[in-house]
Amino acid sequence: MQIWAVGGGKGGTGKSLMSNGIGISLAERGFNVILVDADYGGPNQHTYCGIRKPATSLAHFFEQRTPLEEIIIDTRIEGLRLIPGNFNSSNTDSLTFTQKQKLFRHIKLLRADHVILDLGAGTQYDVLDTFLLADIHVAVVAPDAMSIENFYLFLKTLHNRLLCNVLSSVGLRERANAIWKERAEHGIATSKDFIAHLRTLSSEFSDRLTREHAKLQPHVVLNQVREYRQVEMGLAVESMVNKFFHIPATYAGHIRYDKNLWMQFGQETPAINHGHAFTLQQDLERVTEKILTAHPRGVT
Ligand SMILES: Nc1ncnc2c1ncn2[C@@H]1O[C@H](COP(=O)(O)OP(=O)(O)OP(=O)(O)O)[C@@H](O)[C@H]1O
Ligand SMILES: [Mg+2]
Repeated sequence: MQIWAVGGGKGGTGKSLMSNGIGISLAERGFNVILVDADYGGPNQHTYCGIRKPATSLAHFFEQRTPLEEIIIDTRIEGLRLIPGNFNSSNTDSLTFTQKQKLFRHIKLLRADHVILDLGAGTQYDVLDTFLLADIHVAVVAPDAMSIENFYLFLKTLHNRLLCNVLSSVGLRERANAIWKERAEHGIATSKDFIAHLRTLSSEFSDRLTREHAKLQPHVVLNQVREYRQVEMGLAVESMVNKFFHIPATYAGHIRYDKNLWMQFGQETPAINHGHAFTLQQDLERVTEKILTAHPRGVT
């Protein structure tokens, strides 16, 4: 099984659209796919799937301990199933970190070729940790200054979180904090110097960080492209990620803005699988294909 996480920080960039598009593209290739609405604060993947009121949801898993297998529902697309979000829960804000970790453990036990996690907006630890735990990382950004700023913040926080997780795992977290506080005395000016210094302290830390960096290869998707000249912004974002965070991000391609998409919601069919959304479907298919070829295990 391959677990995909679709994130990117800012709300409204198209994480849910992309998750849905990946799910449909993979199902149409004959894979057994499960979409998980992991946006605990604002679940809407069921709406993308054309399902008005799912009979089950993650609230049953969290509150009534219903096995995850039992809350999976079918969609109209063969091979594509959905775990609806926490939308009828009485306590959406009070999910604990342990509950979310339990969900991830149970997801790993599901029988599927691909599981797609539609993440929420923001840079809270649980969003970042879920993103890091996945096998395939998809990061969605829109071609406007605010979205790119937020995307930068998402990656910066993600990078810090990864560093902290590795430091904790080798028992170096407190020492690293102390070094950072006195960085001038250690001749440290940038985070790059800081990491280089930490690497000299512990080869175990150094090896683990290298391994974790190698696993994190985000696929950048530029969504809501309205003009052709915006397409190149994806390349600029790709080099920004490589330059500032030394994370080998790749630009997976762009998705054009579809001015009629809004009209497709609220109907009992998947929003992007209508005859009208041909361009959108084509773009989502092309981007999914590009990501899949970078992970050969997922190609039939
Ligand atoms: N390529 C596109 N063409 C037209 N409309 C789009 C496109 N991408 C997204 N939208 C619209 O923008 C809105 C936000 O998209 P979406 O819900 O996928 O974003 P999100 O990143 O998941 O947001 P959130 O963080 O709130 O979950 C939706 O109304 C969606 O229909
Ligand atoms: Mg969403």
